[in-house]
Parts: sequence; structure tokens; C-alpha cells
Amino acid sequence: MIAASSSDDVGRAAAALVAEGNPAVVGVATGSSPITAYRELVRHRSLCDDVQLWLLDEYVGLPARHPCRYRSVIIEQLARPLGLPDHQVHGPDVDAADLDDAAERYEEDLRRLGGVDVQILGIGRNGHIGFNEPGTPFGSRAHAGVLTETTRADNARFFRDLDDVPHRMITQGLGTIAAARRIVLIASGPTKRDAITTLLTCPPTTDLPASALLDHPDVTIIGDQAALAGVLDHSTLVEHT
Ligand code: F6R
Repeated sequence: MIAASSSDDVGRAAAALVAEGNPAVVGVATGSSPITAYRELVRHRSLCDDVQLWLLDEYVGLPARHPCRYRSVIIEQLARPLGLPDHQVHGPDVDAADLDDAAERYEEDLRRLGGVDVQILGIGRNGHIGFNEPGTPFGSRAHAGVLTETTRADNARFFRDLDDVPHRMITQGLGTIAAARRIVLIASGPTKRDAITTLLTCPPTTDLPASALLDHPDVTIIGDQAALAGVLDHSTLVEHT
């Protein structure tokens, strides 16, 4: 665990871990949590020109260039600022008629590419990672599914209103995520405190999907003071420059 004293420090610590070893395939989350890390990766141009960015999840039902589509977000926040072509940003085929088949192909394509070297994650306040909601089996692979109302409500801030938030998605499964060689999980703000406290103090359970990662040999949780408040002796806070 890395405890950082500000969201900029969270970003610096995360970016350093992500770039280490010059990864060929980086698994990318969207949302608020990774934004400062992406800013750092761009500022130092820390990823190689032929890096492949592999989406953690994607909404179903938004038009191809919709700004809230996760592929659009990653192109805007990371790929284009790094000078990477759009075709190096990979997402599931959420426009396919058969979403289960599209999810299977996404898993298969990742296997063919050699898997994810480093996976960047946020965490939902219910402990979800990707769109794997509580109850998802730990060994699950990429799959299509339905978003919970909690997650739709949490994500409504990125849309005009709640009605615009899609109901369906394709996500990497918990088993897919756990197969990444390195995991960097970023948690910022007080709404993550309960999930992080449970994650770091209780045995693994499918009620808290992120706990599927507890056995992973190379997982780092990077949080700010608010997110880590339930598990942290504040004297251990460190700064990353
Ligand atoms: C995003 C994703 C989600 C988010 C989580 C936290 O691709 O899969 O699991 O990481 O909902 O979201 P933020 O960072 O916006 O609080």
C-alpha cells in the first residue's frame, strides 16, 4: 500500500509504477481516480510509442464518438496527448449484435496479445473493479452485463442526467483482471474509505469484488488520506516527487 498526501502525489506514485519496466500492454480504467496518473504519464511521456492501451470496460448503447464512451475518454486523456494513434486503444465491440460473443472475443484478443503487463484500476464505493459488481465470481472472464443502479447513479455526474447513463456494459472479468502481471489500484476521496477499509481488513469475499486481488503477487493500492483513513496511521504518509 502507498499512502499519498494529495491527489497529485497519488498520480505521481501510480504513474511511476505503471511506467516501470516499459510495459507493452497497459490496462486502463476511466473515471476520476486515474486522471492525475494519466496526467503524469503524459507529462513525462513515460509510455513507449507502441504501447497498447486495453480498456477495462465499456458502456453498451452510446454512439461511437460519444464523449462518455470509455474509448473516447482514454483517447482524449491519454492516447492523443501521448501522440499515440487511436488504433492502439482497444475496447470490446459493444456495437455487436451478440454481446456475449463480443466479450469472449475481447478476452481471446487479449490472450493473443500476451495479456496485460500493468492494469490500472479505480474502485467503486461498493468495492467493484471494472464493472464487476458484488457477487461476480472471482474467476470470471470478460462478460456482458447490467450495471447496478448504485453504479449508474455514481456515474451520472459524467452525463447530462441519470437517464442518459447506459444500463448495459462489457467488462473484463475478475479473473481477467487478476491475470495482469502488475495491478495498480487507485483510491481517492472519502467515498472510497469503507471499501478500502474492508478490502484491507477482511478476508476475500465476492461481496467485495476488489478482494479478488488480495492474493495477487504484485498489487499496489495507492490512496490519499481520505480513502485510507480507516487503515492508516497518518504518521506513515509519504510524499512522492
Ligand atoms: C472505470 C471503472 C470503474 C471505476 C470505479 C471508480 O473504468 O471500471 O470500476 O474505476 O467506479 O470510479 P471513480 O474513479 O470515478 O471514482
